[in-house]
Amino acid sequence: MARQGGFCLGSFFLILGFVGFFSTPAEAAVKKYQFDVQVKNISRLCHAKPIVTVNGMFPGPTVYAREGDSVLVNVTNHAQYNMSIHWHGLKQFRNGWADGPAYITQCPIQTGQSYTYTFNITGQRGTLWWHAHILWLRATVYGAIVILPKEGTPFPFPQPYRETNLIFGEWWNNDVEEIVKQGNQMGLPPNISDAHTINGKPGTLFPCSEKYTFAMEVEQGKAYLLRIINAALNDELFFSIAGHNLTVVEIDAVYINPFTTQYILIAPGQTTNVLIQANQRPGRYFMATRTFMDVPIPVDNKTATAILQYKGIPNTVVPLFPSLPAPNDSNLALSYNSKLKSLNTPNFPANVPLNVDRHLFYAIGLGRNACPTCLNGTQLTASLNNVTFVMPQTALLEAHYFNKKGVFTMDFPDRPSTPFNYTGAPLTANLRTSLGTRLSKITFNSTVELVLQDTNLLIVESHPFHLHGYNFFVVGTGVGNFDPAKDPAKFNLVDPPERNTVGVPTGGWTAIRFRADNPGVWFMHCHLELHTGWGLKMAFVVEDGKGPNQSVLPPPKDLPTC
Ligand code: C2O
Repeated sequence: MARQGGFCLGSFFLILGFVGFFSTPAEAAVKKYQFDVQVKNISRLCHAKPIVTVNGMFPGPTVYAREGDSVLVNVTNHAQYNMSIHWHGLKQFRNGWADGPAYITQCPIQTGQSYTYTFNITGQRGTLWWHAHILWLRATVYGAIVILPKEGTPFPFPQPYRETNLIFGEWWNNDVEEIVKQGNQMGLPPNISDAHTINGKPGTLFPCSEKYTFAMEVEQGKAYLLRIINAALNDELFFSIAGHNLTVVEIDAVYINPFTTQYILIAPGQTTNVLIQANQRPGRYFMATRTFMDVPIPVDNKTATAILQYKGIPNTVVPLFPSLPAPNDSNLALSYNSKLKSLNTPNFPANVPLNVDRHLFYAIGLGRNACPTCLNGTQLTASLNNVTFVMPQTALLEAHYFNKKGVFTMDFPDRPSTPFNYTGAPLTANLRTSLGTRLSKITFNSTVELVLQDTNLLIVESHPFHLHGYNFFVVGTGVGNFDPAKDPAKFNLVDPPERNTVGVPTGGWTAIRFRADNPGVWFMHCHLELHTGWGLKMAFVVEDGKGPNQSVLPPPKDLPTC
């Protein structure tokens, strides 16, 4: 474990609820964790409240594993909410049962019950994360997943001296589920968060911050790896460190062609690994994160801070503040994302599908449906191809596996029924959407191209889309309407970034490609919790293949029931 940079993993695991660690050298190990979902009182911004946690920790424990390991996480639910946990970015080959989105791949774990998520980590290494996948519980139920390369395999970049996780989140002073309930009753967005956090701490710009600022100690001349995760519910974030450049080396647990930058941009659901050199005058330097939002929508625009502190420097030294990009700097956002390229080496090839079997075009829309009990008689909603996804009462994967009829239909539209000028003047009439639990059927091992097109239905806005069960290649993106005649010629089919969550730019489009080689029912949704809740989601049914290892595995015995 030298690569961990010297901190003692053994004692770490004890604190984190690590149960066992059976391994023979250089062979796959079984990593076992116990997650007790429990309510705990905590205080931030001078406000105390009970929150749902894992093992009483906020953020929750880090799951450590190596590529090739098996992981068993037994989740026992002591909280009053039925809940489930999603292992965001893990591919879960043939094993949707361990994916976690409630009512998609499993029924929630009821209060007092347990479920063991059992999965292998194959062909992935880097930073991912886990979070509750029901209601808005992920506001406090989240943590990092650190997958180290196989024993003896170095990183494809200079070995850092040490590493640290930086998880960005959002904090509300009041009970999040209550706030969401109130918003839904009115048919309006719930109150925005009261602070952003770094490792659960808002930092020095907030009241009662003395204990609630995260600090990281560095030694002059050494290199550090930062594993950055955006666990915020609704905000894309810029991040910068005063006086220090960031070298981006990995996104969503895929190595990239490294580049050096002053800022990163990270959307909810995404992870970004950066290397930093502690090569400045020993002192104290702020790390800071603030929202990127390029349309006039109310948003939490407050800055969370943490401190990079050189060894031996007293806490009385006032830290330097970094310059952060303007919150609405669309050009910077686009240019940052355009720098992300696959590493594309023989060891880490970019296997981009060159031919496409199935072309999909999904228009992202906000809408307004009738709601007699709501404040204006209407409620805000969201849709893909005008379909607002309705959550089923039972798990879709079970319905698919056991061929249970009447739970979903397989008629999700491949494109809008009537094309329109998606990004023209704001469309504010006819905002009704149709409701349905409609899925899209995909042939095993076929190649899929999906163009996600933002629209000006009500307002344009950027949307980070997450696909479960897969990574995809981001082959193209642009502002305005996707042009099927001209834009494909500009696609990057050589070294596009591979990831599990991608931003669709405000009033623009993003094209992704993937090979449907993982059978099961896989959720795809906007990772802004507000929009997911409003129905900006759907699921793919990837059929079984004919081969022996090409079908969905049988469900585990302890799979929760609804
Ligand atoms: Cu990170 Cu379906 O979510």
